[in-house]
Amino acid sequence: MAPPHKPFVIALDGPAAAGKGTLGRRLAAHFGLAYLDTGLLYRAVGVRVLGAGEDPACKEAALRAARSLSAADLDDPRLRGDEAAAAASVVAEIPEVRQALVSFQREFAAHPPEGTKGAVLDGRDIGTVICPGADVKIFVTASPETRAKRRLKELRERGITSIHSRVLREMKERDARDSARAVAPMRAAEDATVLDTTDLDADGVFAKALEVIGPRLRAPR
Ligand code: DC
Repeated sequence: MAPPHKPFVIALDGPAAAGKGTLGRRLAAHFGLAYLDTGLLYRAVGVRVLGAGEDPACKEAALRAARSLSAADLDDPRLRGDEAAAAASVVAEIPEVRQALVSFQREFAAHPPEGTKGAVLDGRDIGTVICPGADVKIFVTASPETRAKRRLKELRERGITSIHSRVLREMKERDARDSARAVAPMRAAEDATVLDTTDLDADGVFAKALEVIGPRLRAPR
C-alpha cells in the first residue's frame, strides 16, 4: 500500500516583528498550506490570566488558562496588543504551559485542515521542539531597531500612540526573556537557514524564502 501523504511543513522561528507573520501567510497562500501563528496561543493564555485578574507568572493560573483554551479565544482582538505580548512571554516561560500547548501545534502540523497540503507554523521553538522534522526551517530575524520601527508603525496604523524608545525597550526585554528561558528558548535550529530581514521589504523576504524552499520541495507523487 502507498504510504499516506505526509504534509509538507515549514517552520518559521524568530523574534517579534522580524516579519514571520507576513512571510508565513504569504508562503501558506503560495503553496496551498495552512498557517498557524503559535504566538496567538501564548497570547490567548496571557489574556485569559489577565482577564481573571491573576498574575501571568502564576503557574496554576496560567496552566488553568492553557488547559481551557478554545478556538474562539484565538479571535480575541486584545491578543494583538502589547499587554498581551508581554503576558504571553511570561506564561511562555512556564514549562507546564508549553507542554499543554504542544499537542495542539503538532496535531495542526500533522493533520492540517482539509484541502491543504501541509502547514506553516510560526513561533520561537517550531524548528527545535514542535516540528524538529519540518521540511523547511527558517529563522527570521532583524536588528532590534528595525523591528521596533516596524512595530511602532503597526501600532500607529492601529491608532495606538507610543514612542520608539519604549517599544525598543519592551522588545529587548521580551527577546531576553524568550531566549534565556530554560525550556524551549528562542533559537535557530542547527539545520535552519537564518534570514535577516533588516534591509529587505516584504517582497524581498518572500523571494529569499522561496530560494530556501525551492530545493526542498518534494517531487509530486
Ligand atoms: O510571536 P508573538 O510575538 O505573538 O509571541 C508572543 C510571545 O509568545 C513571545 O514573546 C514568546 C511566546 N511564544 C513562545 O514562547 N513560543 C512560540 N512558539 C510562540 C510564542
